[in-house]
Amino acid sequence: MKEDNLHSILYTSCAAFSPTEDQLQHLIESAIERNQKNKITGILIYSNQNFIQYIEGPYDSLMHVYGFIRQSSMHNRIIEIYNEAISERMFRYWQMAYASTNDDVFKDLLESVLDFSMNADDINKVPNQAGKFLYEFWCKHNIGKSTNEYQA
Ligand SMILES: Cc1cc2nc3c(=O)[nH]c(=O)nc-3n(C[C@H](O)[C@H](O)[C@H](O)COP(=O)(O)O)c2cc1C
Repeated sequence: MKEDNLHSILYTSCAAFSPTEDQLQHLIESAIERNQKNKITGILIYSNQNFIQYIEGPYDSLMHVYGFIRQSSMHNRIIEIYNEAISERMFRYWQMAYASTNDDVFKDLLESVLDFSMNADDINKVPNQAGKFLYEFWCKHNIGKSTNEYQA
C-alpha cells in the first residue's frame, strides 16, 4: 500500500551501561509495542554497548516515537546520521528487526554508514539510502530474528 508523508531516521548511540540479555529483550519488546501502535518499522543493531537504529514511518508518529527514544535513560550520545523523507518502507515486515553483532561486524557497518553518508549522492536523487543500506546489511548477514509482521 502506498503511504504518504513517510520519513526515516538513522542514528547511533552508546548504551549508558552494559545491558543484560533480559534488559535488551525488554527494550525490544517495549519498542515493538509502541512501534506497532504508531506504524513504525525499522531495525536495531547492538554490539558491545553501541547501538545503530533505523526507524521509518509517518512523519508525526516517527517524531513522537523518536521523542521516547531520545529520552530513554538506557543510552546517550545520540548521533543522527540520516533524517530524511522516504517514498517507501524498507522494513515493512518488521516493527523492529533486531540483531546483536560482534565488534568487527559492527565497526565495519558503522564505518560504511559514515563513509556512505559523507559520500552520499544528492538525497533527492537517491531517496532512502540509509534504509536500503541497512536492509542490505540485514539480508547479507541474515542475522537476528524478525518480529511481528507489519503490513502498512
Ligand atoms: C537503543 C534504543 C532503541 C529504542 N527504540 C525504540 C523504538 O524503536 N520504539 C520505541 O517506541 N521506543 C524505543 N526505545 C525506547 C524504549 O522503548 C523505552 O521507552 C525506553 O527504553 C524506556 O526508557 P527508560 O529506559 O528511560 O525507562 C528505544 C530505546 C533505546 C535505548
